[in-house]
Amino acid sequence: MIICRKGEISIMTKVSDPIRINRTVVKNRITFAPTVKFDYAGPDGKVTQKHIEHYKERAEHNCGLICVEATAVTPDGRFGPNHLGLWEDQQIDGHRVIVENGHKNNTVMLIQLNHTGIVSNPECGPSIGPSEVETRQGARSRAMTVEEIHRMQDHYAAAALRAREAGYDGIQLHGCHGYLINQFLNETTNLRTDEYGGSAENRARFAAEIIRGIRKSCGEDFIISVRTVGADPDLKSAIAVAEEYVKAGCDYLQVSHGYGASDPTLAIGGVPFGLICSLGVHFHEHFAGRVPVSCVNGIFEPSTVRYLIENDLTDTVDLARAILADPAFPEAVLSDSPYVRCFECQRCQYGPFTQHKCPAELKRRKA
Ligand SMILES: Cc1cc2nc3c(=O)[nH]c(=O)nc-3n(C[C@H](O)[C@H](O)[C@H](O)COP(=O)(O)O)c2cc1C
Repeated sequence: MIICRKGEISIMTKVSDPIRINRTVVKNRITFAPTVKFDYAGPDGKVTQKHIEHYKERAEHNCGLICVEATAVTPDGRFGPNHLGLWEDQQIDGHRVIVENGHKNNTVMLIQLNHTGIVSNPECGPSIGPSEVETRQGARSRAMTVEEIHRMQDHYAAAALRAREAGYDGIQLHGCHGYLINQFLNETTNLRTDEYGGSAENRARFAAEIIRGIRKSCGEDFIISVRTVGADPDLKSAIAVAEEYVKAGCDYLQVSHGYGASDPTLAIGGVPFGLICSLGVHFHEHFAGRVPVSCVNGIFEPSTVRYLIENDLTDTVDLARAILADPAFPEAVLSDSPYVRCFECQRCQYGPFTQHKCPAELKRRKA
């Protein structure tokens, strides 16, 4: 089918169309967003059989790309004592199995690398970040020295190298949702006056230098994605930061949210998706063709995935809860097969605090 966009004639993209990211071809436009399985890892941070089955099941249902959940680059940067890690070589083996299962299904495999920074769990380590600010627990974080910043960047690069060793096609830096990289961007958590604070270029420097380090150690073919803020505090500054990432060698921008947006230009309406997803749409418009862009949030209907791709609003669609609720959701998008819709109950997010079961999963198991 031929459609017009901005006066140009183009062929309509379909969800089933492949896309190239760096030098790797992703078989379709559906990606599984990183989602922590809070109670799966033990204190050693190693992959467990539960992780292996969880990701295998999702790869078997035609996900183009899977990004394995937030994985700590140092033990003190964990969400809690039971959190996946890649801070030492002994943690590599379990990841090999996850990756092999993905590759058997021709699914591109990334892993998200993270440090919690200021919001580190006190059971795991001290609260450190770009500046001394009040923490969630009412204590004060400690500002990192420049030497500590460089050491932390090396931890990210070392974890990326372990990811490559495990066979991953690339990594995703967790650059949003209020964790360390996001803390360098945000003006309430980064009060620095040195080269890591102030302008967008300086605030982006922490992650941009990590990207350069990973490129150097992991090679040209290795995918480096950043899950970045779509507006923190506004779209313009988020795009300026992302430009720095692209300049440093980022191959893929997966857009989510930061601390919070205060950008009146972002009001939306009349489209079948919400504000956070629209940030990815804005990024896609801005970066058109230079680097693939993904959007996320609140997408539960196969028709919305098709709408976003077929109207050239994004390059890939990242799905978290839809695929948690039913691993077969990608097939429902691609071929209209039946699926169990996410109940939007948020119970999956409260994993560490409650004994819960996903009602969609229960429904699937009963059927
Ligand atoms: C259980 C759960 C765990 C999550 N873990 C992560 C994570 O590890 N890293 C991350 O960047 N986002 C994480 N998120 C956020 C999701 O990736 C996604 O951005 C969010 O759920 C919105 O997308 P959705 O509406 O498709 O669920 C998590 C979300 C859920 C529900």
